[in-house]
Amino acid sequence: MFQSKIAGIGHYVPKNVYTNNDLTRFMDTTDEWIQERTGIKERRYADRLEETTTSMAIEAAKIAIERAKTTAKDIDFIIFATLSPDYYFPGCGVLLQREMGMGEIGALDIRNQCSGFVYALSIADQFIKTGMYKNILVVGSEKHSFALDFSTRGRAVSVIFGDGAGAAVLQPTTETGKGILSTHLHSDGADAEKLAMYYPGASGGKGLENRPEWPDQELGGMFVTPKMLEDGSAFPYMDGQAVFKKAVVKFPEVIGEALAKNGLAPADIDLLVPHQANLRISQFVQKTLGLADDKVFNNIQKYGNTTAASVPIALSEAWEEGRIKEGDLICLAAFGAGFTWGSALIRW
Ligand code: ACO
Repeated sequence: MFQSKIAGIGHYVPKNVYTNNDLTRFMDTTDEWIQERTGIKERRYADRLEETTTSMAIEAAKIAIERAKTTAKDIDFIIFATLSPDYYFPGCGVLLQREMGMGEIGALDIRNQCSGFVYALSIADQFIKTGMYKNILVVGSEKHSFALDFSTRGRAVSVIFGDGAGAAVLQPTTETGKGILSTHLHSDGADAEKLAMYYPGASGGKGLENRPEWPDQELGGMFVTPKMLEDGSAFPYMDGQAVFKKAVVKFPEVIGEALAKNGLAPADIDLLVPHQANLRISQFVQKTLGLADDKVFNNIQKYGNTTAASVPIALSEAWEEGRIKEGDLICLAAFGAGFTWGSALIRW
């Protein structure tokens, strides 16, 4: 049985910066409202046509691969987490495989939203442990800006999200006690509709309160209709308060689970890298666990919430800033739509 380690990590964010004040050009909002509720000052948006979820992932992957001292040709499995894939199908994993000139290796796409990267990391960890693969590329990438409602109607959701990508290369290690110590995954579908984008989708709105008008035809035609764009039902929906209430319970719970599994306590954590959902959520989690300010990494102020990309972007940036040293205990934790949540404990 092997243990896996993160051999290299990298990230990419688009160069277009949109401050809170920039958003006031499109919707009725204020810098004060956004900062007070979310901590966000600015976010990055991908170039509408030139940049895709896959192209951003490739930029992050190149850095992670180089830092892992390997090459794209040596990657033997891809796990790609995103909720904003380039196509409805196929997933981005195969697009990345093609564009990076990798061999005919397996490519798996993960649909676990904000917990996507932690889920992906956990799967990669299992494959390394069993010896099946030796050089796995794990990616989280999002291009939210293509599908947000930038009118006042959508402001409670659209001000939160940003674009970007992060990637990690997992390899086996023989150093005892080093690498990924454990991962923990959970879900509860009871609130699946409280943070969701219903269309395009095959439900046709079944069970939803505001089911849009069904097109007048016998078959097909129920992906996204012009009326759905008009009435806003084609955009992501979030019950912000329900998300907040659940997140502040599940984050500390799943971090506690990881610590308990390894006989450790919150005081042992050198750096907590939480999914950058909302600064208020992170601060609540920090307080619950009794962690000092320098033990929690936050960069939501600059990038907003980048969903599956947020954990690897934060981890990569923390590493670049020298906040992660050899032997440190790093805790990753995420919570998101589904609801799904998870954690990973790493001895760097
Ligand atoms: N600018 C100005 N006003 C706004 C905006 C905005 N961007 N968005 C909403 N408002 C208004 C509303 O219209 C409402 O006005 P009203 O009182 O006249 O009706 C008022 O502000 C309050 O709206 P609420 O939705 O009740 O605001 P709330 O205090 O709940 O804050 C927020 C909304 C920030 C989303 C909050 O619920 C929250 O932090 N939830 C957590 C959700 C979250 O962080 N999600 C992250 C993504 S999911 C994940 O990553 C896990």
